[in-house]
Amino acid sequence: MIEVKNLCKSFEGREVLKDISTVFEDGKTNLIIGQSGSGKTVLMKNLVGLFEPTSGQILYDGRDFVAMSKTEKVMMRREMGMIFQAAALFDSLTVLENVMFPLDMFSSMNYRERKKRAMDCLDRVNLVGAEKKYPGEISGGMQKRVAIARAIALNPKYLFCDEPNSGLDPKTSLVIDELLHSITSEFNMTTIINTHDMNSVMGIGENIVFIYEGHKEWQGVSAEIMRSTNKRLTDFIFASDLLKEMREAVTR
Ligand SMILES: Nc1ncnc2c1ncn2[C@@H]1O[C@H](COP(=O)(O)OP(=O)(O)OP(=O)(O)O)[C@@H](O)[C@H]1O
Ligand SMILES: [Mg+2]
Repeated sequence: MIEVKNLCKSFEGREVLKDISTVFEDGKTNLIIGQSGSGKTVLMKNLVGLFEPTSGQILYDGRDFVAMSKTEKVMMRREMGMIFQAAALFDSLTVLENVMFPLDMFSSMNYRERKKRAMDCLDRVNLVGAEKKYPGEISGGMQKRVAIARAIALNPKYLFCDEPNSGLDPKTSLVIDELLHSITSEFNMTTIINTHDMNSVMGIGENIVFIYEGHKEWQGVSAEIMRSTNKRLTDFIFASDLLKEMREAVTR
């Protein structure tokens, strides 16, 4: 569980995150949604320690992350898996070497154990057979799955994904969503996903935090969105006329 308490972040006096308090739960796919520029990436970067909050607390199962020393933060990061933007694989490494990379860096396993662990992770994302290929030789959806395998290699308790579906077609996005959802419950991880994707919101949104201009405007589960009367939320979700009609049909 990750608790965020009164988190604020400013850049040169400009407030980007305004007093955000929320809880991200274990075993759940927690989604952060909001318009472009609302602060989703900045929030996630604060959570993982890439940005320092201006004020506020971030508690990882009760452990105060903001107050930790640099060394303690590095230790905490080993409990986190991250999938940031365009898969960010190493182009000069094979698929297998990409997944082994965090194990090479941070585990005390020998080569055989590391290779086995990496192959198990590749198996989990259905990529056995692709281990000798280079990122440039596989599709975008496969690259995302490699990134997921790499992110779970060290068995993280917390998984962060910033727009995991960007650049993917709807069907492949669904595969990625289902994968993130199933590994989250399987390993009881606290998973946080930044997304624009309404299919993801409806499909795997077990706890949804809606950010509007840097503050938390709404929080709930996907089923509640359909009936919400929060205009900022419904304007954001039901931006298209077709979706508006569907909503009216449901709420009539
Ligand atoms: N390093 C930085 N320095 C100054 N301002 C920043 C910095 N990073 C982000 N911002 C500002 O913070 C605001 C929120 O940006 P952020 O990237 O979090 O939006 P987002 O919700 O992730 O948008 P998108 O959906 O487009 O990814 C923006 O106005 C952005 O310009
Ligand atoms: Mg972003």
